[in-house]
Amino acid sequence: MKIEEKFKGVFFIEGRLATRNLVKDFKVHGERLASIEGVQYRYWDPYRSKLAAAVIKGMKEMPIKAGSRVLYLGAAAGVTPSFISDIVGERGVVYCVEFAPRSMRDLLYVCEKRGNMLPLLADARKTEQYGEEVGKVDIIYEDVAQPDQEDIMIKNAQKFLRRGGYAILAIKSQSVDVTKQPKEIYEKLLGRLEKHFEILECYELSPFDKDHLFVLMKYTQ
Ligand SMILES: C[S@@+](CC[C@H](N)C(=O)[O-])C[C@H]1O[C@@H](n2cnc3c(N)ncnc32)[C@H](O)[C@@H]1O
Repeated sequence: MKIEEKFKGVFFIEGRLATRNLVKDFKVHGERLASIEGVQYRYWDPYRSKLAAAVIKGMKEMPIKAGSRVLYLGAAAGVTPSFISDIVGERGVVYCVEFAPRSMRDLLYVCEKRGNMLPLLADARKTEQYGEEVGKVDIIYEDVAQPDQEDIMIKNAQKFLRRGGYAILAIKSQSVDVTKQPKEIYEKLLGRLEKHFEILECYELSPFDKDHLFVLMKYTQ
C-alpha cells in the first residue's frame, strides 16, 4: 500500500487520510482501521472532522506535533480530539473542554481509553472553571459553533496560550447571523482576531462542512 506522511503523524494511505492509532484496536466512531507493516492506522474522515477537512483542502502547516499541549474547546464526543491525541502521542496532552453532559458521557469513555486526553466538563467562556487543570498550552483548537466564538478564543488565548503559540478556529457563520452572507461574517470576525493573532491560513470547508471557515493563526498578544 502506498503511504505518504503528509505531516509528522498524519498520513495518506492510498489517498485516504489516516493517523497512527495510539490505542490498538480501539475505535472512536466506527472508523476503519488498517494494519500495515506492524503499524495500526485509523482512517480520518473529513466529513466527521474539520481538521481532516482542512488538511484535504490544502493546509500547509500542521502546528500540532508529537508532544504538543493542546487545549480543545468544544470536544463533543471526542472524534477530532482523538485524532489530535494520535498526533501528539504519549508525550503530549489534549485538554478536552465540553459543556454538554450528554456529549461528556461519550467523551469520558474515549478519555478513559486514551491516557493523553483529559475531559473537562466546563463552559469555554468561563476559563476559571478549568484554569487550575490547564497550564500554558502550545495550541488552542476551538469548534464551539457559538455567536461569540471569536471572544471565546481571545479569552482562552489570553489565559492559556503561550506567546507564539497557535490557535485554530472553526468559524460557523450560521451561529453568528443566519441573515448575513458567510463572507461578511468571516471578514468581521477575522478583523477582530487580527488584533491578537497573525492569520496564517484560511480554508472554506465545503463540501465537507457548509458555511464554515477554518482559520489557523499565531498568537501575537
Ligand atoms: C460542532 S461540535 C464539536 C465537534 C468536535 N469538535 C469534533 O470535531 O469532533 C460543538 C461542540 O461544542 C460544544 N460547546 C458549545 N459551546 C460550548 C461552550 N461554551 N463551552 C464548552 N463546550 C461548548 C457543544 O456542546 C458541542 O458538543
